[in-house]
Amino acid sequence: MVENKRVELLTSPCKGDVIPFHQFPNNWSSRTDSNRRPTDYKSVTLPTELLEHSFIYLLTIITVSIFFVNGCCTQLNTNMDVLSFSHGQTQSKLWLCDTIEQYLPENAVVVILGCWYNMLGFMLLTRNRDMYQHILGVDIALEAITGADILCQGFMLGNNAQIRNVCKDADTLNLQGHRVVINTSVEHMRDDWFDNVDPGALVCIQSSDVTDQKEPWLVTNPCPDSVSLQDRFPMSEILFAETKHFDYGSSSYNRYMFIGRK
Ligand SMILES: C[S@@+](CC[C@H](N)C(=O)[O-])C[C@H]1O[C@@H](n2cnc3c(N)ncnc32)[C@H](O)[C@@H]1O
Repeated sequence: MVENKRVELLTSPCKGDVIPFHQFPNNWSSRTDSNRRPTDYKSVTLPTELLEHSFIYLLTIITVSIFFVNGCCTQLNTNMDVLSFSHGQTQSKLWLCDTIEQYLPENAVVVILGCWYNMLGFMLLTRNRDMYQHILGVDIALEAITGADILCQGFMLGNNAQIRNVCKDADTLNLQGHRVVINTSVEHMRDDWFDNVDPGALVCIQSSDVTDQKEPWLVTNPCPDSVSLQDRFPMSEILFAETKHFDYGSSSYNRYMFIGRK
């Protein structure tokens, strides 16, 4: 048993071993399966012990317990989709950070459209918070913004708060003053947001050749190739344009990124 564990720990993950999150069975729960908690011996013995005490005492304990458990569950059950932290999501956001940082103006004022949990804003600030005056995360889904506020809280409190997340439709939002506009969710929304970007603003767009309209991809505005993606969002100057292949066997895909000035 101990030996098995050693082998498991010493074996480094290699290509093919990693199951991308989107292939995970969707029914794993931190409270079930192999991750079972140790037997709750107190619950097992508690009723016997309590029988020796008064009924009122028992009632008080139950009431306090329900109150406490309810409180905890409200905190723990904030649902965040683990797909957001998958290998593909993480690596494509790191690619974006690595690339865009060289083009950023000083004290950049950035808006991230369709930000989901704003992992990108979190990464940008974690890497180098001095590069940014402010980052605004925008998502149309309230549960995404709730998650974004949890993830980004480390940059949200106090006098030097640098990030804010708002629940808004990117396609109708006034983007004036944002000299850096990032959208890695163009396959999920209309293209109207681009009309509201200031001329000359730095724009970074990422999308992929996934066209699947079903869960978990939910693509509504597909970008089958990088050329048609650039045609959709015409720039006065292109600074960077590349494609990265994400090899997940039958779930492989290409992700394109281009950065330019509108
Ligand atoms: C699920 S994420 C996928 C992200 C993207 N594929 C990526 O790799 O970063 C897409 C996000 O866009 C958001 N979204 C879709 N339409 C939007 C709109 N009109 N305005 C703002 N956010 C939008 C969704 O709520 C969702 O959180």
